[in-house]
Amino acid sequence: MKHICVIGTGYVGLVTGVCFADLGHQVVCMDIDPHKLELLRAGKSPIYEPGLEELLERNLRAGRLSFTDNYAVALDQADFAFITVGTPMGTNGAADLRYIEAAARGIGAALRGPLTIIDKSTVPVGTGDMVRQIIAEHTTTPFAVVSNPEFLREGSAVTDFFKPDRIVLGSTDRIAAEHVAELHEPLGAPVIITNLRTAEMIKYASNAFLATRISFINEIAQICEKLGADVREVARGMGADKRIGPHFLDAGIGYGGSCFPKDVLALHHMAASAGCHPQLLQAVMDINLDARQRFVAKVKLLLGDLQNKEIGILGLSFKPNTDDMRAAPSIDIIRELQAAGAHIKAYDPVSMERAAEIMPEVTFCATAYDAAKEADALLIVTDWNEFKQLSWDKIRSFMRQAIVVDGRNLYDPIEMTNRGFTYWGTGCGGSPTLREAQQLSLDQEPVTQH
Ligand SMILES: NC(=O)c1ccc[n+]([C@@H]2O[C@H](COP(=O)([O-])OP(=O)(O)OC[C@H]3O[C@@H](n4cnc5c(N)ncnc54)[C@H](O)[C@@H]3O)[C@@H](O)[C@H]2O)c1
Repeated sequence: MKHICVIGTGYVGLVTGVCFADLGHQVVCMDIDPHKLELLRAGKSPIYEPGLEELLERNLRAGRLSFTDNYAVALDQADFAFITVGTPMGTNGAADLRYIEAAARGIGAALRGPLTIIDKSTVPVGTGDMVRQIIAEHTTTPFAVVSNPEFLREGSAVTDFFKPDRIVLGSTDRIAAEHVAELHEPLGAPVIITNLRTAEMIKYASNAFLATRISFINEIAQICEKLGADVREVARGMGADKRIGPHFLDAGIGYGGSCFPKDVLALHHMAASAGCHPQLLQAVMDINLDARQRFVAKVKLLLGDLQNKEIGILGLSFKPNTDDMRAAPSIDIIRELQAAGAHIKAYDPVSMERAAEIMPEVTFCATAYDAAKEADALLIVTDWNEFKQLSWDKIRSFMRQAIVVDGRNLYDPIEMTNRGFTYWGTGCGGSPTLREAQQLSLDQEPVTQH
């Protein structure tokens, strides 16, 4: 059993703390948000993450988990301290490191015994060295810094913690990295030990690669739509090739969330600052924004003037099984529709409370069916499972116009057309009305202004 401290109890930190407690370690989670701490001490998870609240309650009851806002309390007996604070997008595209710096200062000031500090936040290459320097300015106590980038996915974060594909550890102190590897031994995952900067780069390169796959298939989808091919079958055909694989080849409205947008931009910024010319990363970001604009353009082509049109939205979170609204495509899409005069009614199984803080002028509905009532068009924005089994006859009976624009390709265009809908998916065919709209779109191509 080890004593572990986790600094920052957000999506990554809370999952890390709770799961290490479940592996039998003594864990103290530290955060500066008093509201979060109050909820956590009561066994309530401030975020929606499948399986997390059960583990939180269980480990609180077992006395293996506690919460504090005090660095000295958090570090009192700690062998390991994970830094899991946010690294949001800064003003010029670089990652904003103010929370990392504050955590490093807090650790340095409270350090009383030897400690291994493990950076799990996604940080620009060189940040581990900066953390070491800040801590060293505050203490003479021996410590080591290890980079351990996090690869969990929101929506399956608990499962991902217990079954990671790999553990990446980077340090100039090999012994410290090996100690951190031992901590992860029960997970049975391959461990890759590198130097500090390489580990930091592995995280950015991984996220940028996944984002590239998404933008790649979205570009292919656009071409498919114009040339009459079906991107879903194209992706299936491509994905069957072992060298390519099937993941991250779902065409749609592009990536969002708290990681890909900021990480691709931060890598672009890092590259440009180092004198490189990151053209592929720029294209990935441009294509991603174009996908949202193209989605809105489809709605405009089908409905004409959006003034006072009622538009139903299914799904708000940036992906299913999370309540995370950070950089969700739904935000840009809804704002653009509203700017054109449309009224928006939306439904999401878990993220409406968070969405209401960002978009108070949206009408939030109790069910997917309520969002479709009297709507001129229904837009599928997030691929929650519950949207895969809707009764479309019922929906058609109470829509003002039977128009569905599907940003996640949840439905088959022919089936939806046979059910009486004008249906426009992403990169696949559609109804005759649609073909007219597509024809029209050839002359009105949406282009992102950068
Ligand atoms: N969310 C993901 O899916 C994911 C996946 C992999 C990596 N990451 C990376 O992990 C990091 C954390 O992401 P997140 O989504 O968990 O962020 P988050 O915003 O959900 O949580 C960050 C937490 O840190 C706390 N905090 C800020 N400053 C603090 C300080 N000085 N001391 C203690 N606590 C402090 C905040 O109050 C908040 O609770 C980021 O670098 C992110 O890029 C996130």
